[in-house]
Amino acid sequence: MSSEPQADAPAPVLRLEGVTKRFSLNEGEAVVALDGIDLELCRGDFVTIVGSNGAGKSTLLNVISGAVPCDDGQVSIRGIDVTSWPQHKRAHMVAVVLQDPKTSVAPSLTVEENLAVAFSRGKRRGLHLALTRSRRRNLQDQVVALAPPLANRLRQSAGSLSGGERQMLAVVMATLAGADVLCLDEHCASLDPLRAPEVMAVTDAAIHNRGLTTLMVTHNLELAVRHGKRLLLMHHGRIVVDVQQEDKDRLTPQRLMDRFRTATGGMPLPARTVLPD
Ligand SMILES: Nc1ncnc2c1ncn2[C@@H]1O[C@H](COP(=O)(O)OP(=O)(O)OP(=O)(O)O)[C@@H](O)[C@H]1O
Ligand SMILES: [Mg+2]
Repeated sequence: MSSEPQADAPAPVLRLEGVTKRFSLNEGEAVVALDGIDLELCRGDFVTIVGSNGAGKSTLLNVISGAVPCDDGQVSIRGIDVTSWPQHKRAHMVAVVLQDPKTSVAPSLTVEENLAVAFSRGKRRGLHLALTRSRRRNLQDQVVALAPPLANRLRQSAGSLSGGERQMLAVVMATLAGADVLCLDEHCASLDPLRAPEVMAVTDAAIHNRGLTTLMVTHNLELAVRHGKRLLLMHHGRIVVDVQQEDKDRLTPQRLMDRFRTATGGMPLPARTVLPD
């Protein structure tokens, strides 16, 4: 997949070369979760990722965030080889939002305290968490711009927010931390059909506003088709379909289903697949 760099091509923010991950099972057996993944993404690139259950989607995000070390290959962010860096060392470069709204925010803190914690993450020591008046105003401005439904909830405890509101907060927090790369692993999967588009609106605004390089795993074919500039279909630890912007603009959930069946040799759609009405 990687090609010779063009003289005027923008430098990739994220680069994976030959990334392979095996998990050991019982009695010497192993599952190949990632099988030599090559991928380059530039600033602001937004890729949606779909695929069969067990295809390696979450593992791909995990080797990027450092939650899981890869066995072979190299992960580079902003040209820095971070392959051997643990997750906490990459936390200022890679933000992650997972499926479960309960895990994404600190429920006992208020919304603005959560935002302040996110803002201070990755900053130099000495920048404490105190919510000064100017910091409050700054956070409020960001929330108004990115997540209007949260604008009048800043002093409310995050634990009292709905699942969708928590995911919105998690996305805004991810952007405040100043990361280059945003990994979204089914972050709309627990939401009802009305809330998911609201969270996606916040997600799109945050990505656009910050120029975040984003990978979003989803089983919702409508979201996969509608959002992002590029779509990857994974199967058995590999990227088996790579749809670039021009083709993606013409892609429909039905056509995506057809491509899924062709690429996987007729496998049934994953159990959690969300089809359009
Ligand atoms: N910690 C682990 N130990 C053993 N095997 C694992 C582990 N994590 C993932 N795997 C295996 O690696 C493969 C890829 O898993 P992964 O979670 O990346 O798939 P996925 O594409 O995210 O699937 P889903 O759509 O169901 O979330 C699967 O076969 C899975 O069972
Ligand atoms: Mg997964």
